[in-house]
Amino acid sequence: MTKPVVLVTRKLPDAVEARLSRDYDARLNPTDKLYERDELLERAEGADAIMPCHTEHFDADVFSRLPKSVKIVANFSVGYDHVDTEAAKKAGVVITNTPDVLSDATAEIVMLLMLGAARRASEGEKLVRTATWKDWSPAFMVGTQVTGKTLGIVGLGRVGKVVAKRARGFDMKILYHDAVRQEDEEKAGAVFYEKLEDMLPHCQFLSLNAPNLPSTRDMLNAERIALLPEDAIVVNAARGTLVDEDALIAGLKAGKPAAAGLDVYKNEPGIDPRFRELTNTFLLPHIGSATAETRDAMGFRACDNLDAFFAGKEPGDRVA
Ligand code: DGY
Repeated sequence: MTKPVVLVTRKLPDAVEARLSRDYDARLNPTDKLYERDELLERAEGADAIMPCHTEHFDADVFSRLPKSVKIVANFSVGYDHVDTEAAKKAGVVITNTPDVLSDATAEIVMLLMLGAARRASEGEKLVRTATWKDWSPAFMVGTQVTGKTLGIVGLGRVGKVVAKRARGFDMKILYHDAVRQEDEEKAGAVFYEKLEDMLPHCQFLSLNAPNLPSTRDMLNAERIALLPEDAIVVNAARGTLVDEDALIAGLKAGKPAAAGLDVYKNEPGIDPRFRELTNTFLLPHIGSATAETRDAMGFRACDNLDAFFAGKEPGDRVA
């Protein structure tokens, strides 16, 4: 029996590639070169499936030119904002993602962003690395304590809930804003705010954990930043689109928020260079899910979706 052909757009973990090569006619990308749209479409010729990452954009143009043989795009990512799901539906292409398996890793990065921004990790590390650390004094590198502070979470979904759990380990009080109320979280002490504007004045820390949707774009804007307490710290490990970056940069320059920890940006990897010039930013390169365990789990989850599809079943993580 011939195996379905799967185009894999990036270098995936060895164990995932081994499984793909065992079960499919896998077209792997050992060099990890990022395919431009035309090259991707050429390589998809005759493929039954594609396993891309968020680095490839599947917009209406791509779906209109995609070889008809391609029936499923099984993303190696939980976010699928790089896929025009309406265009996929019109083209009759099934879309899946990889939820759950990266919540722990991403929540770890949220904690790292909070700690890094609050405790001035970038400044401190630079002093040590550049051999410019000269002295110790009681006033040296004084930051903000995380323990016991109030954390507002925007989007109490899979990742947001793990963030709340980890933050409770730091005795943080949890507030949240979401379209859906979470009874379990409220039983555990989380306080719900229907209106984001009502929550912001209480957020000593604010973590953005919402997906990229038309309704969440630029949600952290100048008006909302103005509602934060004076010493607030903002972190984002979700999507850069949630932040009006001009407003955030202006705010950071003026001291409100006092600091920001960012793992995601509107433009990646070419981030707004002004973020680099600010000493009150702690910046990471979109590595929320970048642990060996999680990358394996993402790949296996994407394989599970392919397996279900080619067995004639509904893939567990179908999003379109
Ligand atoms: C995701 O899975 O959405 C992460 O951002 C990596 O793509």
